[in-house]
Amino acid sequence: MRLTGKVALITGGGTGIGFEIAKQYVEEGAYVYITGRRENKLQEAAEKIGKNIGYSVADVSNRDDMDKVAAKIKEEQGKVDIVIANAGVGRYVSLENVTTDEFDRVMHTNVLGSYFTVQACLPIMPEGSTIILNTSVTASLGLKDFSLYIAAKSAEKSFIHTWTNELRDRKIRVNAIAPGVIPTDAAGGELGRSKEEEIERQKYRSTLIPAGRVGHVNDIAKAAIFLGSDESSYVNGVEILVDGGLAAIYPVKL
Ligand SMILES: NC(=O)c1ccc[n+]([C@@H]2O[C@H](COP(=O)([O-])OP(=O)(O)OC[C@H]3O[C@@H](n4cnc5c(N)ncnc54)[C@H](OP(=O)(O)O)[C@@H]3O)[C@@H](O)[C@H]2O)c1
Repeated sequence: MRLTGKVALITGGGTGIGFEIAKQYVEEGAYVYITGRRENKLQEAAEKIGKNIGYSVADVSNRDDMDKVAAKIKEEQGKVDIVIANAGVGRYVSLENVTTDEFDRVMHTNVLGSYFTVQACLPIMPEGSTIILNTSVTASLGLKDFSLYIAAKSAEKSFIHTWTNELRDRKIRVNAIAPGVIPTDAAGGELGRSKEEEIERQKYRSTLIPAGRVGHVNDIAKAAIFLGSDESSYVNGVEILVDGGLAAIYPVKL
């Protein structure tokens, strides 16, 4: 029980990586709040987790929504110890075809969303609390047709450095997890590929990844438990790659 007594907020916690972190955080003793735009996904997630879980329908790119989330947590728990800016979107679109709407969608969700999440929570984060950003291995790679998403994740990655410095006097740690290839909903339709095409891609990618397999949401949850717990109290200002060694060998054809 490495998170007993901790209160956590996980944006995008109704599905995929965020849901797995939420589930394992509760198992480790935390009280967890999850957010997202689809109420049915949040409700389903909360029912599966069963206890010590709250949820709010909230768009991370809307500051009012995030202020309401923070106000609810303050009223119910008085504080939040672990803020995980996990909500994110991205799609393979070539440089020539990125529209203004797509640019705004990706930047607003990933970059502005992480900003608003943290801004809203800061007033209720006590000394010793921690921020975890969900970046991506892709910020270390030059994948074609992914420049917008990679730019957004690179901006998030920059927050590790600036916020670590800015929040040092409040003793708030700032770290990130950069997942590798993790099959979730986002790794299928959301990316703009069919499920079949994505499965074929994943088989091919497994041959490139030094670990010999794609990742699992559980791999990311374990890293999130470490970064959220006091076991990592001297780990500050870093991005932990949870990618099976992918970035280390820098494959050119992912
Ligand atoms: N899967 C991978 O291979 C991989 C690799 C590297 C990084 N990541 C990152 O991991 C994070 C989670 O992704 P995932 O793979 O678990 O995919 P996912 O299941 O699609 O999760 C994304 C979550 O974000 C929420 N979300 C999206 N836009 C939002 C908004 N404007 N406001 C609030 N919530 C929003 C979604 O819920 P609603 O749609 O209901 O709002 C959803 O629950 C993302 O930041 C992604 O970039 C994933």
